[in-house]
Amino acid sequence: MMREFLTGGLLHGLLGEAQSSVWMPPEASTFASDMDPLFYFILYLCAFFFVLLMGATLWFSLKYREKTPGQRTSPIKHNGRLEFLWSAIPTVLLVVIFAWGQKGFVSLATPPADALDVRVTGQKWNWTIDYPGLNKSCGPTSVTDPVTGLQGLQTDFYVPAGQPVKLTISATDVLHSFYIPAFRLKRDAVPDRYTGYWFTADEPGVYDLFCAEYCGQQHSEMRGRVHVLTDLEWRAFLKSSRCPTLNPDADDYGEKLYEANCKTCHTVDGSPKVGPSFKGIWGKTESLADGSTVVVDDNYVRESLRNPNAKIVAGFAPGMSVFDSGKLDDRAVNALIDFIKSLGEGGDIK
Ligand code: CUA
Repeated sequence: MMREFLTGGLLHGLLGEAQSSVWMPPEASTFASDMDPLFYFILYLCAFFFVLLMGATLWFSLKYREKTPGQRTSPIKHNGRLEFLWSAIPTVLLVVIFAWGQKGFVSLATPPADALDVRVTGQKWNWTIDYPGLNKSCGPTSVTDPVTGLQGLQTDFYVPAGQPVKLTISATDVLHSFYIPAFRLKRDAVPDRYTGYWFTADEPGVYDLFCAEYCGQQHSEMRGRVHVLTDLEWRAFLKSSRCPTLNPDADDYGEKLYEANCKTCHTVDGSPKVGPSFKGIWGKTESLADGSTVVVDDNYVRESLRNPNAKIVAGFAPGMSVFDSGKLDDRAVNALIDFIKSLGEGGDIK
């Protein structure tokens, strides 16, 4: 155990093995095997300098202690070489840590285009997982803990192994945080805002899912399980009745909302009307009336509904009415976003 404690993590980290160590749960995503070596690098770097500095402190305090009463320190001059080194070495180490982390951060921020779209919503005190393209929705189910026998809610989250999955995370009430330790991924779920990340889970199995932001009385019960499914299991899941959508109209819910609320001013064929057409705007960089630009994404569409005058597209006049949560709730906003997405991305339309 002690040997594992001292060396296991280092070896796993440096060899990138998909195993757990004393320090970390199993590595179950490609991101985990990319980032764990950085964790171990920082850990052992800190351990090295801790021993070095504490050792030096101890040694110096013994060596230079007052040996005879009234003994004075010899006059100390500065040492240019030493001062240069104790600035240069930490600088190089910090730049290495920054570059290494930055590489992971950039990769985490750019999901591949073919990623499976998943919406995650946190609410007091459970998670809802929606698959807009699959017409499935995993809500919390009641389970009995096999060890304690206690009843509680749990959300099951199914993902295919080896396929990129993109999460769009939000919350309905307070701040939560969607945390899958085995994937080394944690992101805040913020009310009225979309955050997200993507991952490729490469090891089929079942993993823990937690809320990692203290969100109230039952925070610790806000948990779930991530099921990473093999090809065969995933195809079975798609056909199964697990996670059926609660709204049978969900298929064209977004389109119906468009017809009822947006059609008078926004077309879907590319021709501008009172406002810009929705065709092909997803992911596009729009020029705004004030000269700035904005990328059409979840947060921009949401803002345009809740606060239409915040960002006016160049060439159009402000004047759209506000769609607050009374007119369009979170689910409706998400459905409209998915509908606009389905009309093609910025790059598709010339
Ligand atoms: Cu939700 Cu803690």
